[in-house]
Amino acid sequence: MTELSIIVPTFNEALNVAELIRRLELALAGLQWEIIFVDDESPDGTAEVVRDLGEGNASVRCIERVGRRGLSSACIEGILSSSATYVAVMDADLQHDEKILPQLLDAVQSGGADLAVGSRYVDGGGLGDWNDQRKKMSLVAVNVARAITGVEIADIMSGFFLARRETILPALKNASGIGFKILLDIALSAEQPLKIVEVPYQFRTRFAGESKLDYQVVWQYLLLLADKKIGHFVPVRFLSFAAVGAAGLLVHMVALTLGFKLFGLSFIGAQIIATLVAMTSNFFMNNVLTYADKKLRGTALIRGWITFCFACGLGALANVGIADYLFVQDVYWVGSAVVGVLVGAVWNYAVTAVYTWNA
Ligand code: GDD
Ligand code: MN
Repeated sequence: MTELSIIVPTFNEALNVAELIRRLELALAGLQWEIIFVDDESPDGTAEVVRDLGEGNASVRCIERVGRRGLSSACIEGILSSSATYVAVMDADLQHDEKILPQLLDAVQSGGADLAVGSRYVDGGGLGDWNDQRKKMSLVAVNVARAITGVEIADIMSGFFLARRETILPALKNASGIGFKILLDIALSAEQPLKIVEVPYQFRTRFAGESKLDYQVVWQYLLLLADKKIGHFVPVRFLSFAAVGAAGLLVHMVALTLGFKLFGLSFIGAQIIATLVAMTSNFFMNNVLTYADKKLRGTALIRGWITFCFACGLGALANVGIADYLFVQDVYWVGSAVVGVLVGAVWNYAVTAVYTWNA
């Protein structure tokens, strides 16, 4: 019987997985445990490496997801695939100190906690060799999260924790699965507040490879909070699409002003060009912000852009037609343009969700 499943989300971690398994074997000697990697078709062949390791070792498993991305959703699917009594989540890059896993297990096993968190922000924990600026930024993010959500976990951003599987299962089924903050997601999705214990550890530097988290982290984080607060009323994907649309409106107005006022184009000519410019910038912004989990790349990116433009072409026709009609009716040029854009936007969301991103 497997007592503990360790869930490890991976994207381009081929050079880390063997070392992680080796260290876990040392740290968890005597325990019945397995490791479940959840990989999103890493270009470096992480899934292949894991399957090769699994050939000689039944406790090494790989879930490879096709056409999908996302740390939190990977963790959720990994946990759902486990039948062990306890589940732990940790990163593949050895930044989390595997040596505290027995303490995390003990905290939950002895009945004291529903969930035990590996924590950088309690006595004895730390951020390793991060520089002061990064330490400060991280602390600000943690404090903002605590203030907004009211969740009382010192290291709310941690991706390193252990729980009894059955205790967190209901929370998992309510979880958003958006972005990177799986612990925060679970804490906010639990029906009753979870009893949490934090065990200190020193965050280490990455063993091999590089971090996957970039500016998107912030956007995904806001979407997660928005989903938890108002997701019952409005799908956050629509909120994201609308926000991109608002940014696109700005792009549109800049392009329109340049064309119409600076380069002396006719209004309709400037409006058509501005629509094309905004359409293209909206496509790329939506691809990374709204559809980060289904991000199109390579040739799919080109196909996506073409379908986006085709789908939005009809929206754009309505946009230009309505804007021009209003303009000819002596409506002020800015107002004419805004109404045209709004009509196009609603159409665009519905059609591109289906044709461009298969959502
Ligand atoms: N399946 C999958 N899909 N895994 C992913 C993805 C993805 O899209 N993006 C990242 N991962 C995996 C990485 O391969 C790694 O094992 C783990 O998630 C963490 O990603 P890093 O790129 O190493 O991020 P980090 O070091 O900046 O931040 C991590 O550690 C922090 C401290 O615990 C994250 O887990 C943060 O959420 C966490 O706060
Ligand atoms: Mn990392």
